[in-house]
Amino acid sequence: MLNFTPAAGAGSGAGGGSGAGGGNRARAVPGRTIRVRVKRCEGPGKASRWEVFAVKAEAGSNVISVLQQIASNPVTVEGERTTPVVWDSGCLEEVCGACTMVINGRVRQSCSCLIDEYAPGEGDEITLEPMSKFPVVRDLWVDRSRLFHNLSRVKAWVPIDGTYNLGPGPRETPAQQETRYALSECMSCGCCLEACPQFTLEEDPKAWGTSFIGAHAISQARLFNEHATGRALKGERLEALMGPGGVSDCGNAQNCVKVCPKHIPLTESIAAIGRAVTIHAVARWFRG
Ligand code: SF4
Ligand code: SF4
Ligand code: FES
Repeated sequence: MLNFTPAAGAGSGAGGGSGAGGGNRARAVPGRTIRVRVKRCEGPGKASRWEVFAVKAEAGSNVISVLQQIASNPVTVEGERTTPVVWDSGCLEEVCGACTMVINGRVRQSCSCLIDEYAPGEGDEITLEPMSKFPVVRDLWVDRSRLFHNLSRVKAWVPIDGTYNLGPGPRETPAQQETRYALSECMSCGCCLEACPQFTLEEDPKAWGTSFIGAHAISQARLFNEHATGRALKGERLEALMGPGGVSDCGNAQNCVKVCPKHIPLTESIAAIGRAVTIHAVARWFRG
C-alpha cells in the first residue's frame, strides 16, 4: 500500500543513530505539539530537500498516524502549502517490512515507532528519512527490488512446485523447527542492509549479481539449507555465496544483528554459512 501525504523535513544518516528510550513514554506530555522533519524528494535522480511540520501528538500515535495527520493538512511550519509526502506501508503491525525508514538516525519500522518514545515533550522534533541503500522512488518510499533479487540469488525457497500431490514432507525434530522458526521471521524489511557498511547503494541492476548480497540473504540461505526438502538446493545456494559479493565480503561489523527488528541471529547465520561454504569448497576440490 502506498501512501500519499503532503509534507517535508531534515535529518541524519542511516544505520546506527539515536533512537529512543522506552522510559520516555511515561513522561510524554498530553496534547503537545511536536515538529516532524521529513526528507523530501520528488522522484529518482531529483534533489532532496527538508520540510518541517507541526503536529499535535495524539496519545499512543505512531509515525504513520503522524504522517496521515500531515496529509490532512500539508502545510509547513513556515505556513507554505506543499505536496503530499509519500511513504510505503502494508500490515501496520511490523510484519510486512514495507514501512521501514530512518527515524532520528536509526533504521526501523515506522508503524511500530511510537511518538511518545521519540518526541515526549512540547516542541520535540522527530526526523524521518528514506533508507539510503535503496533508490528513492519518492520521499520516504524506496525501491527494495535489489533485496528481493538477492534472495533469488540464493534460491531462498523450497523446490516443491509440481502438478501432482507430493505427499507429506520429511519430519523435523522440535529443535530443528525452533532454530528455523527464528530465521523464518525475516520480513525483508532492509534494516540489516541499511546498517551494513559492506552493502552500498547500487542503482544498476547489472551490478547486483556481484555486489554484497547482504545478511538477510545469507540467513535465508541457512534457513532453506536446513529445511529437509529445501536442502535439495543447498549446493547451488553455497555456490552463489562463494562467488563475488558472497559471504566472504562480510566485514563482520555486526551492525546487521543490532538493528534487526526480529532479532534474527544474523551473525550466527553468517558464521554457519561461512563454515558450510568452506566445506563445500573443499569437497568440490576433492571431487575434481
Ligand atoms: S534479517 Fe532482519 S533486518 Fe534483515 S531484512 Fe530480515 S527482518 Fe529485516
Ligand atoms: S556482519 Fe557482515 S552483513 Fe552484518 S553488518 Fe557487518 S558486514 Fe554487514
Ligand atoms: S506497515 Fe508492515 S511493517 Fe510497518
